[in-house]
Amino acid sequence: MIDISTTIAGIKLDSCIFNASGPNDETLPQLEIIGKSKSPAITMKSCTIAFREGNPGPRYADLPANSSINSMGLPNLGYKEYIKFTKILKKKYEKPVVASICGMTLEDNVEMFKAFNNSDVDIIEFNPGSPNTIGKPIVGYNPIEMDRLLAAVSKICKKPWGVKLPPYFDFVHYEQIAKVLKQYPVKFVTSINSVGNGLVIDPEKEAPAIKPKGGFGGIGGRLIKNIALANVRKFYLLFEDKIQVIGVGGAATGIDVFEFILAGASAVQIATTFMQEGTPAFPRLQKELKDYMKKKGYKTIEDFRGKLRVE
Ligand code: DHB
Repeated sequence: MIDISTTIAGIKLDSCIFNASGPNDETLPQLEIIGKSKSPAITMKSCTIAFREGNPGPRYADLPANSSINSMGLPNLGYKEYIKFTKILKKKYEKPVVASICGMTLEDNVEMFKAFNNSDVDIIEFNPGSPNTIGKPIVGYNPIEMDRLLAAVSKICKKPWGVKLPPYFDFVHYEQIAKVLKQYPVKFVTSINSVGNGLVIDPEKEAPAIKPKGGFGGIGGRLIKNIALANVRKFYLLFEDKIQVIGVGGAATGIDVFEFILAGASAVQIATTFMQEGTPAFPRLQKELKDYMKKKGYKTIEDFRGKLRVE
């Protein structure tokens, strides 16, 4: 028997592959579809204090080779709805529910952390990394601001929580952010958010593929896999396994999931793959991962996690 279960922040997951915050996880019917699927957890869309319509469409486009661009602009129903949904989802599907908090200010984040801390959610993912909120810098790129936010929310939150990170490209930046994260009771990082501000051009129309922000948006899927693997690997090494890493960014096959685990990930989330393929992606990736582990002679993910052969 091949066991692909994992434990994130002390919460057991039957499989190490679950949905990322973002695609098709904004409404209760969408979340119920994830509840009924083979995803071992239900991650919800990043939320704000109040309902947001998001950016005007088209705001998502598929790209060739399992990739995507989006500038959704944080459409969500407001955090109180997700607290209600959690109660319903937990009762009906008996799986862990993951909330994603993406406040616009420190005060917003504190209010939402307090509310989710007193809710039925199992895990909280703090998202200071959206590239799509017009006029707002990506907080995850500012270690001083991150420190201020983490200091505030860590005083409030008793539930297991982690931080969704934007991609970093410079070793010094990884080290600066890891140093901040290590000062707080962060249980995991989810790495990476979409790669901010790519531009996709349709040469026929001589126009960008999406409408918001003049066409600039977050790139996801296979195009960003190697950036995601590098981020997972670097944080795995910097945290020495004291903070777990959830890999996300371009896992489209079971072998991609294998690579994320080899780099050090304790679980892998899917976003573009889930957007493009829907719930059949979960059993497919599970089977492909198990088949590859069998070929390699591995029985659990701990047999190879982090064990990238580096000379
Ligand atoms: C959105 C995009 C993100 O990458 C994110 O982390 C949060 C929100 C969005 O545009 O809705």
